[in-house]
Amino acid sequence: MCGIFGLISKECLDIGEIALEGIKSLEYRGYDSCGIAFQNGGKLTVKKVSGKINDMQKKFNLETLSGHLAIAHTRWATHGAPTERNSHPHTDCTGDIALVHNGIIENFMELKDELKSKGHIFKSETDTEILPHLIEDFLKEGFNFKEAVIRTLKRCKGAYGIAVCYTKEPDVIIVARKESPIVIGIEEGKISYCASDIPAILPHTRSCYILEDDELAILQPGKAEFYNIQNSVNKIDKKPEYINWSVDDAKKNGYEHFMLKEIFEEPTAIRNTLKIEMKDFQIFAKHLLSADHIYITAAGTSYYAALAGKYMINKFLGKYIQGIECSEFQNNLIGALEKNSVILAVSQSGETADTIEAIRWAKKTQNDIKILSITNVVGSSLTRYSDHYIVTRAGPEIGVASTKTYVTQVIVLALIALEIAKLKKAISKEEIQKYYDALISTPDIIENFLDKNIHSVKNLVRNLEKNINYFFLARGISIATAKEGGLKLKEVACRFIEGYSAAHAKHGPISLVRKGFPIIFIAPPDETYERLVGNVMEFKARGGYIISVVSESDKKVTELSNVTIRIPQPSNKYFNLLTPITFIPALQLLAYYAALEHGLDPDKPLNLAKTVTVH
Ligand code: M6R
Repeated sequence: MCGIFGLISKECLDIGEIALEGIKSLEYRGYDSCGIAFQNGGKLTVKKVSGKINDMQKKFNLETLSGHLAIAHTRWATHGAPTERNSHPHTDCTGDIALVHNGIIENFMELKDELKSKGHIFKSETDTEILPHLIEDFLKEGFNFKEAVIRTLKRCKGAYGIAVCYTKEPDVIIVARKESPIVIGIEEGKISYCASDIPAILPHTRSCYILEDDELAILQPGKAEFYNIQNSVNKIDKKPEYINWSVDDAKKNGYEHFMLKEIFEEPTAIRNTLKIEMKDFQIFAKHLLSADHIYITAAGTSYYAALAGKYMINKFLGKYIQGIECSEFQNNLIGALEKNSVILAVSQSGETADTIEAIRWAKKTQNDIKILSITNVVGSSLTRYSDHYIVTRAGPEIGVASTKTYVTQVIVLALIALEIAKLKKAISKEEIQKYYDALISTPDIIENFLDKNIHSVKNLVRNLEKNINYFFLARGISIATAKEGGLKLKEVACRFIEGYSAAHAKHGPISLVRKGFPIIFIAPPDETYERLVGNVMEFKARGGYIISVVSESDKKVTELSNVTIRIPQPSNKYFNLLTPITFIPALQLLAYYAALEHGLDPDKPLNLAKTVTVH
């Protein structure tokens, strides 16, 4: 996720200051590098930095910049590290075209090879840079600016929100959208603005046009024309929408908190993560197949994603993977870290001090060790210390409680597991396809659940309001879901929880159960189900208030439960393996509404930081 802002005006304005304010209000979409292009007297100037917008402001003194056109960008790196070279805007060979982009061009490698063979010189490792070069090519062929942009976009697969300017048409910015948002604001007859999101436009106008997929707009000072990319001959008649949110509400896209917004972003985060190239999973799978010893390490939520992933990978790998919390990694393995080991490290931030220390210690202790990591941040410390890494595509997560990054971590681990199953021929091709089909349908399942269950989860929370202690119990792979769901309630709603094995809970924890004690059972219909039914009965017999999270067609656990949360998914082994992904939004929502019920801010849990950089 990145942020785009642009403006074009009749009069000369303080464009530097306006553009900086625009991208600053989009910083929640990404903040690892940034840049701006502006036009003055037919000359295009581009300034960029690796770092925050404030660094760029200080370095180039941009507040003093005046002019009539600027496009600016704040980046969340996906292709290429967050360096100055990879920052947007990107330009063509002539330096006449500048372009900012949010999204991913999936076929950029083929297009880049083609453009290189025609003599185009590339300066960055990004997918974006092919766009200005393709436009340059079409302009050379004699197409006008609009037609060159349209022809370029028609050659691209993937997602884009773009803004592009061209020195030979100095009174125009062209914007277009496919899957990545673009909004347009018009101060009639004076100034036109474009941005990735409404908060950037609101200080200037409340009247916004929202571009739909495959739409393109030509912005001129104080006016805009709209076209469909697939049929660009006739203009489209678009009506503006009046936005009455505050700037702060707008950043949260109308959601009350980032946590809720990020839970609702899970389907998109998963769909984007499913687009990661297969070759990355193959590299991980090959290393895991040839290793003698495998460890998986992480902290907090990432550790619970690791526990779910470890279970998925074990299933097909036929080798034991040891899960060790990163802070105890060294204590567990001192004197015992052997040659030909692989460590799989998971961290959304890629900066957690204990995770970094664990892998640095391992590398120092056994120099042939391979570090494979999964993170959400390109260029993070974890990527620098890893032999190979995969970057999840959750986009920036602002809420301190990890939500969408968790589901994308588990998706990546599931894809690695399936790659192992393929390479090892552990199951038939048909079965592998069924697992993939189930994986691909996880975003729809979550969307469907979120659409229909907000009210029932809110009601459940109201009934539980007085309880301070909870158990979250499960068996098998769902123990990871129980622990993660419980952690959410603990951190955002300040309830005491124990996330535990349902079987093991009778060896001690059960002594706490009295009438009305809430116990949340995670109960997918997998191989552990029948025994779990027995565990539910044990807790019910002692007066426990049973809340269960089950698949749609569940009967036995439902009959034993006081309240049931049903996840709309089929009951078969392919979907059962993926319940760490599809069942978790229910528990995240429960934690979110419990925080509100107790008057707490779910985005800023007490005593916690988003990234823990101390040991
Ligand atoms: O950035 P990381 O994934 O390495 O962070 C690990 C934990 O600090 C993190 O998951 C923490 O537990 C979150 N607050 C969970 O919501």
